[in-house]
Amino acid sequence: MNAPQTIYLKDYAPPTWLVDTVDLDIAINDGFALVSARLAMRRNPDAAAGALLLDGEDLHLESIRIDGRPLGADEYAYSGDKLTITSVPDDFVLETVVRIEPDKNTQLSGLYRSKDGYFTQCEAQGFRRITFYPDRPDVMARFTCTLHADKSRFPVLLSNGNPVAQGDEDGGRHWAKWQDPFAKPAYLFACVAAKLEVVEDTYVTTSGRRVRCAVYVEPGKLDQCAHALAALKLSMKWDEDVFGLEMDLEHYMIVAVGDFNMGAMENKGLNIFNTKFVLARPDTATDTDYQNIDRVVAHEYFHNWTGNRVTCRDWFQLSLKEGLTVFRDQNFGMDVHSAGVTRIQEVRTLRAAQYPEDAGPMAHPIRPASYAEINNFYTATVYEKGAEVIRMIHTLIGKDAFRKGMDLYFARHDGQAVTCEDFVAAMQDASGLNLDQFQRWYNQAGTPKLIVRSSYDAAGKRYTLDVEQQYPATPYEERMTAEGNGIARGPYYMPLVLGLLDAKGNELPLRLAGEERVQGTQCTLSIRKDKQRFVFADVDAEPVPSLLRGFSAPVVLDYPYSNDELTHLMAFDSDAVNRWEAAQRLATGILLKGIAAPSVPADTWIPESYVEAMRRLLASAFTADGDPALVAEALVLPAETYLAEQMEVVEPDAIHLARLALRQHLAQALREPLLKAYHDLKVDRPYSPDSEQAGKRALRNVCLSYLAELGDEASHALVLAHYEQAANMTDTMAALAALANLDVPARHSVLDAFYARWKGEALVVDKWLQVQSTSRLPNTGSDVRALMAHEAFDIRNPNKVYALVRAFCAANPKHFHAADGSGYKLAADVILQLDPLNPQVASRIARTFDRWKKFDPARQAKAREQLERIKAQVGLSSDVAEVVGKALD
Ligand code: PHE
Ligand code: ZN
Repeated sequence: MNAPQTIYLKDYAPPTWLVDTVDLDIAINDGFALVSARLAMRRNPDAAAGALLLDGEDLHLESIRIDGRPLGADEYAYSGDKLTITSVPDDFVLETVVRIEPDKNTQLSGLYRSKDGYFTQCEAQGFRRITFYPDRPDVMARFTCTLHADKSRFPVLLSNGNPVAQGDEDGGRHWAKWQDPFAKPAYLFACVAAKLEVVEDTYVTTSGRRVRCAVYVEPGKLDQCAHALAALKLSMKWDEDVFGLEMDLEHYMIVAVGDFNMGAMENKGLNIFNTKFVLARPDTATDTDYQNIDRVVAHEYFHNWTGNRVTCRDWFQLSLKEGLTVFRDQNFGMDVHSAGVTRIQEVRTLRAAQYPEDAGPMAHPIRPASYAEINNFYTATVYEKGAEVIRMIHTLIGKDAFRKGMDLYFARHDGQAVTCEDFVAAMQDASGLNLDQFQRWYNQAGTPKLIVRSSYDAAGKRYTLDVEQQYPATPYEERMTAEGNGIARGPYYMPLVLGLLDAKGNELPLRLAGEERVQGTQCTLSIRKDKQRFVFADVDAEPVPSLLRGFSAPVVLDYPYSNDELTHLMAFDSDAVNRWEAAQRLATGILLKGIAAPSVPADTWIPESYVEAMRRLLASAFTADGDPALVAEALVLPAETYLAEQMEVVEPDAIHLARLALRQHLAQALREPLLKAYHDLKVDRPYSPDSEQAGKRALRNVCLSYLAELGDEASHALVLAHYEQAANMTDTMAALAALANLDVPARHSVLDAFYARWKGEALVVDKWLQVQSTSRLPNTGSDVRALMAHEAFDIRNPNKVYALVRAFCAANPKHFHAADGSGYKLAADVILQLDPLNPQVASRIARTFDRWKKFDPARQAKAREQLERIKAQVGLSSDVAEVVGKALD
């Protein structure tokens, strides 16, 4: 598969054959499973004529019948992942029996074994690894599934929908039959046969439906399920309150599995989750883990309407369900935690993960028009930028019209497989706002730049903002144009939310010249053209603009802020995102100066005014309306990877040294207030992951990480004391992460003791691997190699690979980009070893090469060497081939 085939959106054609019902019978045996499928099929009256083509991958066909008649060998052909049957009636029943080998399924797609149980993963194209089927999301059918397995080894047998019958069989086996009342695409099918324990609760919907909520986990983990179960009930309530959407089944089950490629999967009524997003106990999970559980549980639950009831016509429309569902889980997060902090974290992730993607070889619009391997398109662009695009609609039309648009979307499309245009049309029709131009967000790749310049006319008391947008073509557009599939690019339609601050920090009332209406102290400008001018009247003195509030559009904002203006915004802006953003901009500007002058002492490029601004920032956490969580976010310097994106040619060592120097400088200068804050913020109550406690811990642990930079005996002692006194995993990990960066004897003994204590908890072992792989100490590269040989590591387990290898490549730029090329070599070795086992995970590691062309010629040569080596591998998967091929183009 060295030259993966490209698939185009423009080639979409409706399915020739439809499936009304699917009856599956899956018998799990030692070493193999037998899958009998009975499909009631008919010709699609709305499609072109054609033979019956079914998808099938790694299936061994045992028998095939149409309407009860076995087919002769000349009546069908199975090759190249397709089963072709040339002659069929317009309406018929197809029965197949296939043999599959779930124990050998290391890809974790289809039916696979994890530890002592069997689980499925069918999105995007895993169902074809279970049985022959038209495996595309616009074929929706009603499923029943009967499972058979050994009763003592696999006492729990689950599938989608409702349990309808069960019984015992000869040989100590048993069976269970499930029926899903809703038609669904095959990617939402799931089944499980395993030894699991369960916690249950009941949720009563507004209309009085009783829903059994259940969380299934491997034996011994029942004390780690409470948070996920509570999050599920909270999500059910939220979706009723905010969108009027109720649960539609009597059973809602979450099953946690330790081997899983992604975060979790929204299978109808039977979500399958990576254990990472289910299991939590105060001594095993951090505050961040608890919050992630809330978000992922909500996300999968929200998919029941945005994804399952209304699904995607084809995989190009993935953002239809993912962008919208991320938007919904983000808003859930903003409601159940702090709105400002949640939004800041979103913006940080978007800029850390999506902006580089949009600037690199894999750039694509949120609705790509072509792809080689669909599994490569579960990206930050489709998910996070997709959510930003939905948020812009929300901002442009307002909350009430958005709700009307959602209602209209469901009224029109419940039970259908639709496109992104259908969603936008519902929003347009419900709001009356023309969204034609807005559709460019779905078709153009790249992060637009918004250049804003201001001028003040004191005599006329007018304040003018000139806004220009730039949207240069990306490699995606270049490729499409070269293929003759180019599109005419044009300006985006986006909301620019802003306010103006006077010299005292007060927000000015806003009136656009020529308009009567005063808009309050915040307004939303409609940006539609390449260049636009906005004039504000009655402005008594030149203000400081607070632009792009709430991060109202996913753009790069270019405005020539002075340091004084930024400290002003940090102190007074009413918008939490922009207070944080001002601190980030200030630090970025200073760091870029430091990076450019590596041999100059730090105190010559670090302005005293910056240190004072940070001092005030820290102090603000302790005022009456202070928010420690927000201050914690603002105190954290921009990441090395973020700084790298701001440079023409990345210098990883200079970035690392400058950032470290600034941290050390702040630690020295603010030692006293940091220490005082550290002591004052101690939480004495029993652990709870609530926002208030978590916020205090976050700030306290940020203080600790600064203090650890002091490098003296006292600071080392503080880190060790923090570790020893930690009463929860959040504090433990804060200390361990600091210690992992320190070259002190205690480092080894503590890491060893930690492992000895936690080696039975896989998720905690992942944390142990990750603090080591992200360490800044010089030996990290060889430590990672050594850890790959450690009993704690297992290359077949995605979480282990992500914790040790991906974290090293993506979050340890100093070592991944080591000048001798050793980091690149390590990544390539892992990719090559992993590709035959699990191409999806291998491909995710390969993505860490995305930005290789931004480095100096010597590093580029080393990276190219590894990319070429991967590309040359015989039998490379289409997943890795697409990523590496595009990187080398
Ligand atoms: N659809 C899942 C989600 O976003 C993600 C996923 C994709 C999981 C593909 C597994 C495989 O919630
Ligand atoms: Zn999703």
